[in-house]
Amino acid sequence: MSEVAEDNVENNSQPETGDPADPEISTDEKPLSKKALKRLAKRAQWDEIKKEKRKQQKLKRKEAGLPNRNKGGGKRRRRFKKMLDSSNKVNIVVDMSFDDLMSEKDLMRTGNQLNRCYSVNRALVNPAQYHITSFCGNSKEATAKQIGFCNWDVHFHEKRYDEVFEKSKIVYLSSESHNVLTEVDEDKVYVIGGLVDHNAKKGLCYQLAEEKGITHARLPLKEWVDMRTRGVLSINQVFSILANVSLGVSWQTAILNAIPARKNAQARQDDDSSNSTDESDDQ
Ligand SMILES: C[S@@+](CC[C@H](N)C(=O)[O-])C[C@H]1O[C@@H](n2cnc3c(N)ncnc32)[C@H](O)[C@@H]1O
Repeated sequence: MSEVAEDNVENNSQPETGDPADPEISTDEKPLSKKALKRLAKRAQWDEIKKEKRKQQKLKRKEAGLPNRNKGGGKRRRRFKKMLDSSNKVNIVVDMSFDDLMSEKDLMRTGNQLNRCYSVNRALVNPAQYHITSFCGNSKEATAKQIGFCNWDVHFHEKRYDEVFEKSKIVYLSSESHNVLTEVDEDKVYVIGGLVDHNAKKGLCYQLAEEKGITHARLPLKEWVDMRTRGVLSINQVFSILANVSLGVSWQTAILNAIPARKNAQARQDDDSSNSTDESDDQ
C-alpha cells in the first residue's frame, strides 16, 4: 500500500505558545490579568483545533486504508527511497519558465512549493520521477536563497520541458482544459506550470499548450469531490495528487488528502458535477 504524503499542512499562524517564564501567565495565587486570561483562552482554543485536525487526519488515513502513524509509537527515522531505485517511473515535471511573470515574492512562493513537492515525493514508498525544467535564472536563485536544493533527489534541467521530453508524451496540466485526466501513465510526462500568479494570468498555461500543440488536461476534481472553490490548485497540491495516483491511490482519496480543509472538499455522493461556484484559488 502506498504512503500518502501529508501535504495539506497549511501555514497557519499559531498563537504564541505559553512560556513558563512569561510574566503574563502566573502560576501563583495572584489573579491573572485580562491579557493573560485571553491568552490562555486562545491557547485552549488552539489546542482544540489541533486535536480536531489530528482526528480528521487520522480518519482520512483510515479511510484511505493507511496505517495509523502513531502505531508502534516509535520515532524511527524513515529511510527514503531514491528515485533511481523507485519502481514508480511516472514523470512529473514542474515547468519553471515563468520567471519573468513573477514578482520576487511569488518566485519565493514558487520555490517553497517546489520544496513541498520534494517533501511529498520523498515520503512516498516509491517516489515518482520529479523533474524541474527551465531551472535557471531568477527562479533558481530564489529557490536557492530559501532552501538548499542542491542535495535534493530531483532531476534538474536547464532546458525547457519540450526540449527534454518528446512532445507526443507531454500532458500539460491546466484547470482550464476541457480534457479530463482519468489515469496517470508511465509513458506520459505530466507538466505542472511553475507559476504563482494569484489568478492574474488565468488560462495562460492552457493557452501556451494550445499554441504549441501540446496535449493538456485538467484534474478530475469535480468528478470526485464537491468543493466550493473553482479548483485552481497550487503546484504542490497538483503534484501530490498525481504522485499518489501514480502509486495506485484512488483519485478521490488523493484529492481529499491534498486539498486543505478550509476548501471544505467532500467526497462526492452523487453524479451531479455542476457545483463550482466561487472564484478563489489556492496559491
Ligand atoms: C497556481 S496554478 C497557475 C495558474 C495559472 N494561471 C495557469 O495559467 O495555469 C499552477 C499550476 O498548477 C496546475 N493546476 C492547478 N490546478 C489544476 C487543475 N485543477 N487541473 C490541472 N492542473 C492544475 C497547472 O499546471 C497550473 O499551471
